Amino acid sequence: MTEVAVLHGGASAEREVSLKSGQACAAALYDRGYDARLIDVRRDVPRLVKDLTPPPDVVFNALHGRFGEDGTVQGLLDLMGIPYTHSGRLASALAMDKAMARTVLESADLAVPEGMVVAREAVRSADPLPRPYVIKPLGEGSSVGVHIIREHDDPAEILETDDTLGEEVLVERFVPGRELTVTVMGERALAVTEIKPKQGFYDYRNKYTGGASEHRLPAPIHAEAYEAALDQALAAHLALGCRGVSRADLRYDDTGGEPGDLYILEVNTQPGMTELSLVPEQAEHVGIGFGELVEWIVEEAACDG
Ligand SMILES: Nc1ncnc2c1ncn2[C@@H]1O[C@H](COP(=O)(O)OP(=O)(O)O)[C@@H](O)[C@H]1O
Ligand SMILES: [Mg+2]
Repeated sequence: MTEVAVLHGGASAEREVSLKSGQACAAALYDRGYDARLIDVRRDVPRLVKDLTPPPDVVFNALHGRFGEDGTVQGLLDLMGIPYTHSGRLASALAMDKAMARTVLESADLAVPEGMVVAREAVRSADPLPRPYVIKPLGEGSSVGVHIIREHDDPAEILETDDTLGEEVLVERFVPGRELTVTVMGERALAVTEIKPKQGFYDYRNKYTGGASEHRLPAPIHAEAYEAALDQALAAHLALGCRGVSRADLRYDDTGGEPGDLYILEVNTQPGMTELSLVPEQAEHVGIGFGELVEWIVEEAACDG
């Protein structure tokens, strides 16, 4: 029987989501005949190494955010020689660093919103871009630290109170229009979902409060835009060197009519995997059940040791 250790939890802002992702994946693997066990990862490396000794056949990485999604745990597993799911060390690190990811995506001719990295102090004194614009941390997820600065907002106050923003922040032109997301599974982009928050933008609350956002699958957009979103997500996955499953977040500006313009915001290398998450929903839409999806992910596990 294949032994799978499912890493979940972690020390990031996304710990709670990861606990749920891990539980759902472990249960599905168990049902499909894998010897799956959960490991709640904390910031205790000796303990993690001990929990992985003797090594399982595969690690299922259900961590999100810092250390779990940024190449850190991937590097440890490379060192230990244990095959793991999802992207490897380099792709994980590139995708997690929003500034580096933009550079790689632009070099692959993919459109990202106009923007740049600026010192946090600089934003305090003057607007780096015409309003509305977006301020975000270089390496968080789940919309933690993401702020939209509109006409009457005070960026100085936000910069003072939000300690998830580092010394440098990414600022981007606010792209109006709609929010899209696309799952890539290996060589194939699965489907396009439009996410419609009932209030405000797709922030932390709207991501994880049941019923706070509506998922429209397939996204009701122009057929050409739908195809382009699939193509761009796959191109982004390949440009960053991702493995297994990833999920690209895009903005679709259709304010000048359809088909509109697409911009990639980011590629998530460890997307949410609860049964209600976007990736399982898109897989289901193309006829791949949750158990089948999780099993495919395990079979793709690899290691760059
Ligand atoms: N340039 C932008 N224009 C419009 N909305 C944006 C922009 N950047 C981020 N957002 C909004 O903030 C959300 C989170 O941003 P994203 O870059 O995906 O970071 P995270 O890793 O936190 O998910 C997006 O889903 C979108 O709703
Ligand atoms: Mg996102």
